[in-house]
Amino acid sequence: MEIIIQPTAETATNVAARIIAHLLREKPDAVLGLATGSTPLLLYRQLIAMKLDWRKVTTFNLDEYVGLASTHPQSYHGFMWENLFQHVNISKRNVNIPDGLTKDVPKFCAKYEKQICAAGGIDLQVLGIGTDGHIGFNEPTSSLASRTRIKTLTPQTRKDNARFFGSEAQVPHHCITMGIGTIMEARQNLLLAFGKNKARAIAEAVEGPVTAMNPASVLQQHPHVTVCLDEAAASELKLTQYYHWVYDNKPAWQQL
Ligand code: F6R
Repeated sequence: MEIIIQPTAETATNVAARIIAHLLREKPDAVLGLATGSTPLLLYRQLIAMKLDWRKVTTFNLDEYVGLASTHPQSYHGFMWENLFQHVNISKRNVNIPDGLTKDVPKFCAKYEKQICAAGGIDLQVLGIGTDGHIGFNEPTSSLASRTRIKTLTPQTRKDNARFFGSEAQVPHHCITMGIGTIMEARQNLLLAFGKNKARAIAEAVEGPVTAMNPASVLQQHPHVTVCLDEAAASELKLTQYYHWVYDNKPAWQQL
């Protein structure tokens, strides 16, 4: 795991944006896995400002709430079009987001997995992290080998996400999410976390044991993970000085 700690969310996001920009320049038909929520908002803003060429890019989103139509303002479809897709030259047919209204969830999930494979697999997956350590909506105790499927959100996650809905009662209980096994097959994972409320989850994920109680900890077993943090999210890590030294002394050929 590469742990990159920056003074602010803005500067940490800038590192992540440069990693994605580099990929899209090297591989114009890259397959990106994308996340929603507060964390990637700045990233999408920076990517839009970079005026990259998205014509050949394919995207797969991590998750969607069950029961929300794509036109619902809090749907992840709505989020992605509002915050990224409508501002770049991506082709609509290359955008994939789970269908929260599918009538046959298992069939839809199996098809989503097949579509990822047919696209050649995900080159780079953007991840946020829940305060309980979830990635995608793989809540604590999710199978570390899970595939795209329905999940039930924990009370903690519904509470955390109530800010988008106005009240906790309006947050759906179910979602469709890529599984941890699906995320682990991405060739690179780029995890972003900002703010003090993510510090414990990050410390457990990066320096704790690999456990389904903190699903993000499984990333320790992935060969290519970059974690971009602001100082607040990094504040409970033990090896902070080491991570800073590593980043500041990267050989020139490793730098972007
Ligand atoms: C969103 C997703 C979630 C979020 C996580 C953090 O697509 O998969 O794992 O990344 O809940 O959410 P924020 O960024 O709102 O704190």
